[in-house]
Amino acid sequence: MDLARPLGLREMVETLLSEHKGARSLLLELEELLLRDEAQKVAEGLIRLDRYLLQHIVDEEASILKRLINVYGSEKCEEEIRILQQHRIIYNILQECNKPQELTALKQKFAELKVILERHFKDEEEKVFPKVLKTLT
Ligand SMILES: [Fe+2]
Ligand SMILES: [Fe+2]
Repeated sequence: MDLARPLGLREMVETLLSEHKGARSLLLELEELLLRDEAQKVAEGLIRLDRYLLQHIVDEEASILKRLINVYGSEKCEEEIRILQQHRIIYNILQECNKPQELTALKQKFAELKVILERHFKDEEEKVFPKVLKTLT
């Protein structure tokens, strides 16, 4: 999956921000399932989260981050580049979570994923994306 959804910038930003809410509730759901040791449901939920985030990341990179970097140049886009780098980290942890493993090991990786994602959404993207609308529209 490497095609961005064909949305206008405003609609894209709104979609991405609302998907953060969707991802947060998926994470909470998964956390509950892990607490109850529901291994099968956790595995299914992780696959859903993986698909959900993959399209989300493709859109963020193609429609927003790379566009900003093209317009302003990489020297002025440190935040955007950091977000791109975080996507690689997030993607790798997700792949690690999706490997067959003991529930205890998965719980640790999942906790790490949740912290990184929350920081990524709240401290990075939810600050950068609203600015995008001001600068690119
Ligand atoms: Fe992101
Ligand atoms: Fe995001």
